[in-house]
Amino acid sequence: TAADDVFKIGLILPMTGQQATTGRQIEAAAKLWMAQNGDTVAGKKVQLIVKDDASVPANTRRLAQELVVNDKVNVLAGMGITPSALAVAPIATQSKTPLVVMAAATSSITEASPFIVRSSFTLPQASVALADWAPKNGIKSVVTLVSDYGPGLDAEKFFAERFLFNGGKVMDKLRVPLMNPDFAPFLQKVRDLKPDAVFVFVPSGAGTAVMKQFAERGMDKAGIKLIGTGDVTDDDLLPEMGDVALGVVTSHHYSADHNSPANKKFVEAFEKANKGLRPNFMAVGGYDGMRIIYEALKKTGGKGGGEALLGAMKGQIFESPRGPVFIDAQTRDIVQNIYLRKVEKKNGQLYNVEFDVIKDVKDPGKTK
Ligand code: DHB
Repeated sequence: TAADDVFKIGLILPMTGQQATTGRQIEAAAKLWMAQNGDTVAGKKVQLIVKDDASVPANTRRLAQELVVNDKVNVLAGMGITPSALAVAPIATQSKTPLVVMAAATSSITEASPFIVRSSFTLPQASVALADWAPKNGIKSVVTLVSDYGPGLDAEKFFAERFLFNGGKVMDKLRVPLMNPDFAPFLQKVRDLKPDAVFVFVPSGAGTAVMKQFAERGMDKAGIKLIGTGDVTDDDLLPEMGDVALGVVTSHHYSADHNSPANKKFVEAFEKANKGLRPNFMAVGGYDGMRIIYEALKKTGGKGGGEALLGAMKGQIFESPRGPVFIDAQTRDIVQNIYLRKVEKKNGQLYNVEFDVIKDVKDPGKTK
């Protein structure tokens, strides 16, 4: 195949280190998309180049540079954490290469480059629904407990502001380091303050540790509820979390238990291709990100370079395994349903079971 007949996607993910579950989920989802939809689009051979950044932003930046300059990729994608996405944004802008952010979820990311399109979600989008639900369901006081970086600060701000607006009381705001966190001293502080609930944001992969230490400190027995964005009851880890997770209420854009034919098909195919691994919200971000790239390539026929491709990504509307979505052409962020969910057992397995939905939620973090 001549170089012109190849379309290259540079997929940078944390395949090792603390965020490795994000990498394995998104890589598996991207491969599933290609297995289901073929590797020839608009007469071009699609080539997926996967690179491991171990979620170190300096690595993400160097890998993106190499992919653009040496491999001449048509699209950059992945971005397991916010600092990685922000490190690559200037490269996307300078090289006019669309960057499809499949995981990172700080609101401001899409403002860091006009070439960024996001298929994941934002923390403000996920947090507000829970702050509306909580005061109506016996939770009048909370302590917030978040990872101390972009998405955590977004979750803290948007949850707390809305909760206060709804008449709730925020007793304290606690921030835990992103790397190698020890939740125990923070949870002890929560225990001493005795709020009705602790609102938690931790990135995907950290939920098990939070849940374990929550149980060890007897927080549930002390009458303190755990609530949060769905990152804490991530479907990758939830099956192994144990009964301490039962009853935890979260708000998020995706549950493997989402009841639609499109999702049932997706979950079944994903589990079959990955030795029973359950897809989580990262997988859906990767799967839909691939769809956005494929559709843009189909529409442009690969003509017009990065700018044409970017243009064809904006405004896409489709049925995702998470429900109906669209890519807002102004913000390049995804507009989607946010679900309230409760952890329950189904056929002996823990799931985030949806019990309410707020439709077509835009990122509340965009003021413009
Ligand atoms: C980010 C990472 C996560 O694993 C997550 O669940 C949400 C946000 C981030 O770094 O943006």
